[in-house]
Amino acid sequence: MSAETQRPQARLWSKRFTYDDWMESQNVPVHRGYYIADLRTIELAWWELGQCNAAFIQLVGQEGVTSTRVIEIPAGKSLKVNSFAFDEIGYALDGHGLTTHILPGGEKRTFEWQPSSMFIMPRHQAYQLTNAEGSKPVRLMFFNYLPMAMSVVPDPEFYFNGPPPGQYGQTQDFYAEARMVKPNAVGDGAYLGKRVYWYGNFFPSMKDWDKMASNAHRGAGSTSVYCQFPDTELSAHMSEFAVGTYKKAHRHGPGRAIVIPRGEGYSIMWEEGKDKVIIPWQEASLFVPPDRWFHQHFNIGDVPARYLAMHPPMQFHGHAEKVTDRAKDQIEYIDEDPTVRERFEAELAKRGLTSGLDPKVYTERDFDWAKFATEVHGSGTN
Ligand SMILES: [Fe+2]
Repeated sequence: MSAETQRPQARLWSKRFTYDDWMESQNVPVHRGYYIADLRTIELAWWELGQCNAAFIQLVGQEGVTSTRVIEIPAGKSLKVNSFAFDEIGYALDGHGLTTHILPGGEKRTFEWQPSSMFIMPRHQAYQLTNAEGSKPVRLMFFNYLPMAMSVVPDPEFYFNGPPPGQYGQTQDFYAEARMVKPNAVGDGAYLGKRVYWYGNFFPSMKDWDKMASNAHRGAGSTSVYCQFPDTELSAHMSEFAVGTYKKAHRHGPGRAIVIPRGEGYSIMWEEGKDKVIIPWQEASLFVPPDRWFHQHFNIGDVPARYLAMHPPMQFHGHAEKVTDRAKDQIEYIDEDPTVRERFEAELAKRGLTSGLDPKVYTERDFDWAKFATEVHGSGTN
């Protein structure tokens, strides 16, 4: 069969996308639903194209926008060299390994990763993944915008192993650790306002990353880091919130994959006026808030909890991050359904914990979060 006849038929006026047909043609498990409890244990199967065990994950809220898949590298082995025509964010789920880039002329450049490392895999760059552990398989998650890309160029063969090896790392630092950047008012980072972001191709441990900044408007005395990778519209941010706290509910656009580097808790997601979906989470859980669904994160564990959100390109970010939109896209504690607090306090009680939120957040619209952050974190800006 020629590549031409293998091409999925584009469907007109349909929310079934070219990518969906391609994904299902790969003969590996496709995990669906609202969340994955633990990416380290989901069923995989042999993926011929990648020459490894793999599974795709398409959660509600990702359709047509972003793609996630998990792959596994056998103990002590390397996978075949791949080169894809799209950028991906890689995230190490368990174990240690190596990524080797093969440059034109055959020169190799290698960096090491560990659990919760995050790095960009640039388009058109030939690479090979190696398991550095001799006794057990290791798993990685990849996040990309392939569903969008395939809606524009619906030829799967275009994306896999077609283009020649790229020159990533020849013109810039090769997988140096990220550095802090102050946003430019009209250019890079303008969307973030005064918040700084971190720019780089490698974040060695999201579990242990300690350069967080206050993110008071989202509640719970939370802190955040915004991450941007070179030469791609993919980005990420991570938020940490204290023991016994939960974030305000908010909503935005589709396609953000949220993976948990650390902590134990649950999230509630709902479309305005509809039933609520409860997502229990722990390290290596994955979920995606669907387009314009409110969602709210709760820490019920005994350590500060972290969630890492991988973002699709900016046209899908939605509206909630602008101050002027908060009134309709974020629910203040004082306005929330009382059952939200009741459920949270009941879950904490089961674990012998109590709420760390000042009761005044439920009565004072202008609660001083900067002061709360000082009490929780020991520093107003940390
Ligand atoms: Fe969100």
